Amino acid sequence: MKSKIGIIYATVDGQTLKICNALVSVLKANKQNVTLFSIDDFNEDIASFNKLIIGSSIRYGLHHKKIIEFINTNKIKLNAIKTAFFSVNLVARKPEKNTPTTNPYVVKFFKTINWKPTIIEVFAGKLDYKKYPLFDRIMIQFIMWMTKGLTNTNTEIEYTNWEKVKEFGEKISRF
Ligand SMILES: Cc1cc2nc3c(=O)[nH]c(=O)nc-3n(C[C@H](O)[C@H](O)[C@H](O)COP(=O)(O)O)c2cc1C
Repeated sequence: MKSKIGIIYATVDGQTLKICNALVSVLKANKQNVTLFSIDDFNEDIASFNKLIIGSSIRYGLHHKKIIEFINTNKIKLNAIKTAFFSVNLVARKPEKNTPTTNPYVVKFFKTINWKPTIIEVFAGKLDYKKYPLFDRIMIQFIMWMTKGLTNTNTEIEYTNWEKVKEFGEKISRF
């Protein structure tokens, strides 16, 4: 029987969705049956999937509330199938903070959520100051300054490692 894969995501500026679309391409190239859902429209029965991938970006230190609620509400069903979780954030642009055991948001998240997906991954996101409203721009500038990153508000830079995204997709195809 062909396995059915679902990808559920939460994004604000679209980088997590872009990563999901890249994953869909890899999975389809591997002849997998995959469907992409925004967390806002997911109404399916979890048990109807063999594998479920959940992706969320970080805002002010936290994954999206709806993603956390979804996991907390559906832990038992999620534990019955193969699952993967990935986080997207800017701290992960640093090589020493881009793995599930070294990225502070991912480490903290799994200390509190009491759920263990089959695989966990973390990807660096995108910095695009021009997209942010004034308050967010100042806050991100501060976060970047604190973490010795780029603070020029003309900066638009994608830190995502697409090779790593591809490898994650391949891993999902196999597991
Ligand atoms: C308002 C705001 C807050 C953010 N807070 C953090 C943060 O606390 N830590 C971090 O590493 N990245 C932070 N980021 C960076 C995002 O995680 C990154 O830009 C990511 O690519 C966003 O993904 P999305 O477009 O799917 O929402 C923040 C970005 C914004 C706009």
